[in-house]
Amino acid sequence: MNEITLDVKLAKTKIDRNIYGHFAEHLGRCIYEGIWVGEDSPIPNVRGIRTDVVEALRKIKAPVLRWPGGCFADEYHWMDGIGPRHQRPTMVNTHWGGVIENNHFGTHEFMDLCEQVGCEPYICGNVGSGTVREMAQWVEYLTFDGQSPMADLRKANGRAAPWKLKYFGVGNENWGCGGRMTPEYYADLYRQYALYARDYGDNKLFRIACGPAGDDYHWTEVLMAKAGDARTPRGRQMDGLALHYYTSVKRLPDGSREGSATMFDESGWIEIIAKARYMEELVRRHGTIMDKYDPEKKVALIVDEWGTWYAVEPGTHPRFLYQQNTMRDALVAAVTFDIFNNHADRVRMANIAQTVNVLQAVILTQGEKMLLTPTYHVFDLYAAHQDATLVPIDICSESYHLGDYCVPALSASASINAEGKLHLTVSNANPTRDLAVEVLIRGMTVGVWEGRVLCAAAMNAHNTFEQPHAVRPQPFYNAKITSEGMTLIVPKMSVVALDVE
Ligand code: AHR
Repeated sequence: MNEITLDVKLAKTKIDRNIYGHFAEHLGRCIYEGIWVGEDSPIPNVRGIRTDVVEALRKIKAPVLRWPGGCFADEYHWMDGIGPRHQRPTMVNTHWGGVIENNHFGTHEFMDLCEQVGCEPYICGNVGSGTVREMAQWVEYLTFDGQSPMADLRKANGRAAPWKLKYFGVGNENWGCGGRMTPEYYADLYRQYALYARDYGDNKLFRIACGPAGDDYHWTEVLMAKAGDARTPRGRQMDGLALHYYTSVKRLPDGSREGSATMFDESGWIEIIAKARYMEELVRRHGTIMDKYDPEKKVALIVDEWGTWYAVEPGTHPRFLYQQNTMRDALVAAVTFDIFNNHADRVRMANIAQTVNVLQAVILTQGEKMLLTPTYHVFDLYAAHQDATLVPIDICSESYHLGDYCVPALSASASINAEGKLHLTVSNANPTRDLAVEVLIRGMTVGVWEGRVLCAAAMNAHNTFEQPHAVRPQPFYNAKITSEGMTLIVPKMSVVALDVE
């Protein structure tokens, strides 16, 4: 039996819009080509930033964008990326293919991008190879109003008013590419660096500590114990702890991954779905450790890197991490968003890796062409959850199993907005069987509904530059109002979004 039960009167926790956040790193073709084409490009742009990409991100209400990395962040020296572009020094992007980084996309360009998209900037500072002074000066450059060495430099570079900057990360993966640190050492450094990343005027930073890799529960324990309740002169020192988890078939010793993004059979399908569902255990167990030190849940769990990671597309640079995106990725996104929504009391931001042309990208580009991936469409189907109030949900689902893997076929989450409209997202991970689902809705009478569905005939259905709309949402008609709520037929391997009033 497949049954979903919810009571809108039990809604109380806000689903932070930032759960639907993004991440763009100086990696492969994400920033350069994917976002930045330069002012002289024939590709339509505003001050060098692609118009088509900005419009696509605006459409899904992208709420927050993390930058400049990733591993790149701990090698990035922000002063190289300001001032006249032709005078900016170059550097070698050692982590991502040893290519030359010309620093044409720097602080001003990133803040402009965020203003064009209408999203909050989330800047990740350099702890691994940067100094406390360098990080402190970046925050001063960005946010100091009035006269100061860094504010004066910003003005000389053409920006008089300070920017508003809320989200600031103190390092990235400092257990790995960000310095190979122990949690004890990093926790001390966090307290030091975070202290000098000052709040200027009415700009209040939300400081985010590097959190664990996947199931490294010890890291969370140490960070929360040593830095979880540290204070700055103006408040708490740690507002968020960042978890990273990637869904992949197999990680190879050089950090690359096995398994094609598009050529897989059903065993490759279920393995990825099962591994995506593991996010639930990670969020719950890291959350339980955080509860011990922070029972009021003041520190947010920020999943600022998540998504699928496969072998790169044949013929592409092995360190550019360019991969296609199929219905399997759409199901991963749906399952993951349901987990984040249903843990919205602790998970208050998440950032898919990455926005354009890298890993589980929502957008792919080829020259002047751009396509929206199935994952993009899931962001679109789930956008109504942003800042709505979570409606707790009970799901009774049949199992979907194959080989060593067994997962619930159904995944779902629900929210209600300020106008009393219920938004229900339901997915069916079984690629061979449609599901009849009873939805028992308490606390409201269903009057009208409207739905959309993302589905396809093949597990590996995807959009190409030749057929950019092969996979996209369609109107959904397979629902009926009943005396207790609704019944739905959720097609095999599909994601359904319903608005109910
Ligand atoms: O998103 C790609 C890389 O994955 C990031 O740079 C790093 O933080 C993680 O290991």
